[in-house]
This record gives sequence, structure tokens and C-alpha cells, in this order.
Amino acid sequence: MRVQPERFVLSENPVKMLILVSGNGSNLQALIDAEKQGVFEGAGTITGVLSDRPCAYGLERARLAGIPVYIELPAKSGTEPSLSDRILDLAVKNHVGLIILAGFLSLLRGDLIKVYAGKIINLHPSLLPKFGGKGMMGEAVHQAVLAAGETESGCTVHLVDSGIDTGTILIQRKVPVLPSDSSRSLADRIHHAEHIAIVEAAVMMIRR
Ligand code: GRF
Repeated sequence: MRVQPERFVLSENPVKMLILVSGNGSNLQALIDAEKQGVFEGAGTITGVLSDRPCAYGLERARLAGIPVYIELPAKSGTEPSLSDRILDLAVKNHVGLIILAGFLSLLRGDLIKVYAGKIINLHPSLLPKFGGKGMMGEAVHQAVLAAGETESGCTVHLVDSGIDTGTILIQRKVPVLPSDSSRSLADRIHHAEHIAIVEAAVMMIRR
């Protein structure tokens, strides 16, 4: 797909948000709850939830909230349009102004990153630039934090660029790492911080 950014209005009022999820979607739920509670003050609205996994529980959360859902699987061959191109197509058609990766496992690339530069944010469960990059996902992040003997960890919301976890940092929230922590208990503590950070970042982006 060839899209000229200047030909599309990506900043409408309210800003339309598309949330990308691959799993449980507890951060999606935090965003859904925030909108219901008026945290976005009418300046932003979740207009779609997309998953690259048909069984992602996040899709169920969206359905329960009456939000349209989309399932787009990663391309199986080079002849199919890429997942990123299909997301771009959907986002542009629906006048999406902000794309939020809330536990989305596929990597975004190509025109999507260019057209939506500065309008895609990702949530990562560590204090980037520490414990980011290839392979640093889920449990692996927390195990690496514990193995390194860190005394604090946390989460980061950052802009998405063409690298992995390399975009401009928008928000970080810290949590302590306790001597008794397992990767599970640390993950749980970070999850609570994430639910606050992702909403803060959404508010920051829609007010820009
Ligand atoms: C979060 O820990 C986030 O940092 C990572 O994926 C996880 C998603 O959790 N990118 P949930 O599906 O929102 O519960």
C-alpha cells in the first residue's frame, strides 16, 4: 500500500485510538475503564481492538465493552500483504490518530511506521533502555532483571520507531525489586504500574 501521510487527517477530535493486543489485555482493560470513567475528557476514544492471535482474551474484553474487533494474522508468505500493511490500511480507513501496542507480539515495520511516526506507542515491562531489544519479552525480561541483581525495575511507554524498544521514551514508572521476588511476583507488581502508565501515556498523546 502506498499512503502519503499528508493526504490523511490523522488527528481528529476526539482522537480515535486503535489498540493492538496479543494476549490477556489487562492494559487494554485499563484503557477501556479510563475511557468509561471520563479520564480522556472526550478527547480520545477507543474505536477498535486488533489482535494477531484469534484466541487473545483482549478480544473478549473489547467485545464485552462493545468495541469493534479485528483479527489479522501474520502473513504466511511474501505474496500476501504484510500484517503491518493491513494494519495501516485499517487505521487509515478508520481515521485512527493513535495506535497503542498493549502487549502486541508482532513487530511493526514498513509504511505503517512512517505514516504513523509519532503516533504509535508501545508498553514495555522494564526501565528502558535496560532489558529491551530482541527476545526481551514477558518472563524473560523479569528473569534478566532478577539475574542482574537490580534493586528496581518498572515499565516504559515509548514511541515506536523502526528499532526494537528504541523509540523516544514518554513515561516510566518504577517499582522496587524485593529480595523475595520471583519473576511472577515482579511481573505482577510491574503490571499494576503499567495500568497507570498506559493511561497516562494515552492522555499525553491525545492532548498533544
Ligand atoms: C505487558 O507486560 C506489556 O509490558 C508487554 O505485554 C504485557 C501485556 O500484558 N508488552 P496484558 O496483556 O495487557 O495483561
